[in-house]
Amino acid sequence: MSRATRLLNACRQRDVDTAPIWLMRQAGRYMPEYRKLRDSYSLLDLIKTPSLATEVTLQPINAFDLDAAIIFSDILPLLDGMGLELEFIKGDGPRFSNPIRTDDDIHSLAEPPAAEIMQFTLEAIKLVRQELDGLVPLIGFSGAPFTLASYAIEGQSSRSFSRVKACLRDNHRGWRILMEKLSRIIADYLKSQIQSGAQIVQLFDSWVEALSPDEFRTFALPYINFIINDVKNTYSDIPLIYFGTNTAPFLHDLKDINADVIGVDWRIDIDEAWTILGDHFSIQGNLDPKILLTNPSEIEIHTRRILEQTNMKKGYIFNLGHGIIKETPVENVSALINFVHDHGRSS
Ligand code: CP3
Repeated sequence: MSRATRLLNACRQRDVDTAPIWLMRQAGRYMPEYRKLRDSYSLLDLIKTPSLATEVTLQPINAFDLDAAIIFSDILPLLDGMGLELEFIKGDGPRFSNPIRTDDDIHSLAEPPAAEIMQFTLEAIKLVRQELDGLVPLIGFSGAPFTLASYAIEGQSSRSFSRVKACLRDNHRGWRILMEKLSRIIADYLKSQIQSGAQIVQLFDSWVEALSPDEFRTFALPYINFIINDVKNTYSDIPLIYFGTNTAPFLHDLKDINADVIGVDWRIDIDEAWTILGDHFSIQGNLDPKILLTNPSEIEIHTRRILEQTNMKKGYIFNLGHGIIKETPVENVSALINFVHDHGRSS
């Protein structure tokens, strides 16, 4: 079986020759080729120049035997397009200079067509599809509404989430209006990516672990459902992955979502997660990215355990439990991919 079909088959719970593998944040700073480009260009230059975004998307595909490409972009430029001014500050991550602080700020968030504000990423998707010429499928993505709302309200990465939690608890109406705006534009953006050539799409809910199960059900899940149903109504054949961090307490609630694949992190055994979710889902995960900082024999121990927990079942996709860390040695990435392909066979 070729790399062209392995991941798509696993998303659809069809037969595969071995477990497919891709890595969240697989293009980026751990790769020397990427760091070299970053000497000349800022992150936003790379994202906003389709030819450069194409080059970066293909770097890990050329370097490793990965089963998918993921378009090089970020979850935050969409918010920039709605009027929140995004900067990436060296050594300090993303920051919005005008975060949401009042109801007026929520009301003045613009809702332009995603195709207008994310045109550079859509163009990059078209270019990558041409370059890949069917070698591996291309994954498109968006931030999920809770995670984007958190950035919009906190203005930067947060430990306490105090502002976003205050908003959802004390300003139900404002929260609903904000989440509805985000959900509409995210659904529009994912559909535009599919129209441009994305063959699988993933929602990243990287900050959802800040919520209690009850808060998740009330303040996040309805909007996730809206997006998934909207995308699936138009593109029922395109696999959709929902990934969140520390979702163990939410798995019972995720059972009914209309995604094809659920991505889980390392804070739950993957077989246990799959049992709770049910066999109608494919599952993706869940190696702790910190394991990749160690050495091939340690990586093998942890990877073997995950494969043993999952590899007799159709619908398993190997991934990390969160994005790859920038200090990861490139040799460890190759060792991981080879190990998964060699040992991920179902018989
Ligand atoms: O997966 C891929 O290879 C595609 C590219 C991709 C990036 N960001 C590029 C990037 C994807 C899918 C993302 C998603 C993203 N961005 C998320 C969700 C996934 C996750 O890791 O939780 C989040 C929360 C962001 C926001 C973001 N972007 C932060 C907090 C930071 C700074 C801290 C960090 O992790 O580097 C970024 C910068 C960013 N986005 C880099 C890359 C390659 C680092 C770029 C650089 O400094 O050169």
